[in-house]
Amino acid sequence: ARTVERREDGVVAVGGVPVTEIAAEFGTPAYVLDEDDFRARAREYRDAFAGADVFYAGKSFLCKAVVRWIHEEGLHLDVCTGGELAVALAAGFPPERMGLHGNNKSVTELTRAVEAGVGRIVLDSFDELDRLTAIARELGARPKVMIRTKVGVEAHTHAYIATAHEDQKFGLGLDEAAVMAARVLDEDVLELLGFHSHIGSQIFDASAFEVAARRVLGLQAKIRDERGVELPELDLGGGYGMAYTTQDDPIPVPELAERLRKIMEHECAGYGLSEPRLSVEPGRAICGPTTFTLYEVGTVKQVPLDYGASRAYVSVDGGMSDNIRPALYDASYSATIASRASSAAPVLARVVGKHCESGDIVVKDEFLPADVSPGDLLAVPGTGAYARSMASNYNHVPRPPVLAVADGTVRVIVRRETEDDLLRLDVG
Ligand code: LLP
Repeated sequence: ARTVERREDGVVAVGGVPVTEIAAEFGTPAYVLDEDDFRARAREYRDAFAGADVFYAGKSFLCKAVVRWIHEEGLHLDVCTGGELAVALAAGFPPERMGLHGNNKSVTELTRAVEAGVGRIVLDSFDELDRLTAIARELGARPKVMIRTKVGVEAHTHAYIATAHEDQKFGLGLDEAAVMAARVLDEDVLELLGFHSHIGSQIFDASAFEVAARRVLGLQAKIRDERGVELPELDLGGGYGMAYTTQDDPIPVPELAERLRKIMEHECAGYGLSEPRLSVEPGRAICGPTTFTLYEVGTVKQVPLDYGASRAYVSVDGGMSDNIRPALYDASYSATIASRASSAAPVLARVVGKHCESGDIVVKDEFLPADVSPGDLLAVPGTGAYARSMASNYNHVPRPPVLAVADGTVRVIVRRETEDDLLRLDVG
C-alpha cells in the first residue's frame, strides 16, 4: 500500500505527488504522511489479531484525523493523558473503545474518563486505586479496570532481559498486582477486566512477549485459585519494532499474532484456564513507517576529520525540535535527496538541524551525493512515531505541519505553527 516512489527524474513522489510540489505549496520542514499506508498498517494489525482487540497507542502520533482513521479501520484507542483523551473525544471516538493509561493520572483525568465512559482504565498504583474508587462512588459509576503489572521482562530493540530489575516507575510487581486484584474484587464499585503488561518498545524478539504472557497468565491462574474468578481479559501491550534503517528486521505482523495466539493457547491449557480475550497496543509499528520528514538544505560545510578524511555537515531547516529521537536515544535514521537525481560520488555526511546545540543531529552518518547543496530537499523516512508527538518549540522554532497524502491529494491534518502561535502564550 506504500505509495512513496522515486520517479525517473529522481524526484520522490508520494501518492503521485512530487515532493517538490509539496514543498512549494506547504513549505518545509513538513511531516509527509501516506494515509493509505497508515490505514493499511492499522488493518494489518486488526486482521492479524482477529479475535483480539488492537488498541492503537496514541502517544506515538495522535491528531483528530488519525483518531478518525483508527476508528474507521476498526481499531480501539489507547490514550495516556487528559490531552490525548481530549483529542480522541473531540474527534468523536467512541469512549467505550478507549483505554486510559498513565502512572500518575490526576483526579481531573480520571473523573473525565469515568464521566465520558472510557472502556477501561489501566490502574498503575494503589493511590490511583483509592482515587478511582472514590470518584466512581461519587459519580455512581462502575468503571472497568485493568491492573498494570511488571512481569520482570524488559525488552528493547534486539535484546530482552528475562529477569530485569523492577526498578522503574510503571506497574506493580506480580505479588502486589495480586493484592490489588483482591482489593478490586472486594470493591463492587470497580469491574476488574484483567491484567496488563507492557515490556518495552522497538522490540524484535517475540520470545520476550512469550515470557511476559507466561508470567501474567500465571498470575491469572493464581487469582483463579485464590478467588475462584477467571478474569476475562489480558493485555500484552505494544512495543513491536519497526525498521528505521536496513539494519532493523521487524517480525511480520501475522507471525507475531500467531506466536502470541499459540503461547496464549499453550499457557492457558497448562494452567487449566479458559483463554482471556487478548488485547495489544501497537503504536510505532502502525504510524512510524508511514511518514517522512521533508527538509530543505540550508548550508553545507566540509569539516576535516583527524584521519585526513572529511565530513559534510548538511544543515536543514528543522532538527531536534521536530525529531528529538537521535539526541535523546541516539536513534538512527537515513536521509536521501528527494528533489532530484544525482550521479555525484557519495560522501560521508551528517545531517544536522538549526538548533543551538551540537547534539542537534537528524542523521548521524549518511552517505549523500557530493553535490548536495542549499535548496536540495532531503527526505528522512520513518518519522511517523514519536517525532511530531515529542516535538518541542526549542529556540522558538514553530512545529512543522503534518500533511496527509491520499489519492494524489495533499491535505493538512495538523497545520504549521506560526510565530503568532508562539507569542500567544506570552502574557504581558
Ligand atoms: N502501551 C503502553 C502501555 C506503552 O507505554 C507504550 C509505549 C505503547 C503501548 C506503545 O509502544 P510502541 O508500540 O509505540 O513501541 N518515545 C520512545 C518510545 C516510548 C514508548 C512509551 N510507551 C521512542 O521514541 O522510542
